[in-house]
Amino acid sequence: MKMTAGQPSIVPGGPLLEAVALSKSFGPVEVLKDVSLAVNPGEVHAIIGENGAGKSTLMKLLAGHLQPTRGELRIDGKTVTLTGPVDAERRGTVLVHQEILLAPDLTVAQNVYLGGELPKGMVVDDRAMNEGARRAIRNLGADVDPDVVVRRLSIAQRQLVQIATFRRKIGALGRVVKGAQQRKTRRERPAGVLQSLMVRAGGFTG
Ligand SMILES: Nc1ncnc2c1ncn2[C@@H]1O[C@H](COP(=O)(O)OP(=O)(O)OP(=O)(O)O)[C@@H](O)[C@H]1O
Ligand SMILES: [Mg+2]
Repeated sequence: MKMTAGQPSIVPGGPLLEAVALSKSFGPVEVLKDVSLAVNPGEVHAIIGENGAGKSTLMKLLAGHLQPTRGELRIDGKTVTLTGPVDAERRGTVLVHQEILLAPDLTVAQNVYLGGELPKGMVVDDRAMNEGARRAIRNLGADVDPDVVVRRLSIAQRQLVQIATFRRKIGALGRVVKGAQQRKTRRERPAGVLQSLMVRAGGFTG
């Protein structure tokens, strides 16, 4: 795959995420060659290509699952080396898999706070997590009981819980959701939620 998208530094403050001439080889096979991409605040990009074109490989580079053979990654204008997915998440990039990654036997609140449980002394603060999860989901324009186990939810509800989980993980996205919430429009479907984020951020008019 060889592609170039975005115009670096056309937006004040510059891109949030930038790939500069990224290349990736597996052994002798060069899968990505000089891929450049600039993602400005509020933008949604679609990466389209045939099977084996290198889409997943590019996403894995951006989220620290793989390291590039050549080229550079910048987050907020700073060159970074992502040592792994946890490091990437800490810096603000996370790969959201197509499949839903929720623990089916945990409650909605336990999923939203998985790995980031709110402490209360030596135990976890279930009440605060329930309240936080309820608020997070309401902010997305939906109403899902934080006490219910995920197994009992519909697919659409699970996707909303997944978005709420990422929202907790990435504060920047959370701030945009908060803006979308002020629109007072009830948006049930995750696609609608994402669209409202983009409308609010001014990066999407369709
Ligand atoms: N870990 C790996 N080791 C060796 N080759 C790999 C590895 N991962 C991917 N490839 C190869 O790199 C190429 C790009 O794969 P990639 O999964 O990024 O494509 P894709 O665009 O996501 O395809 P699809 O549409 O099928 O998901 C393919 O030829 C694939 O076989
Ligand atoms: Mg793929």
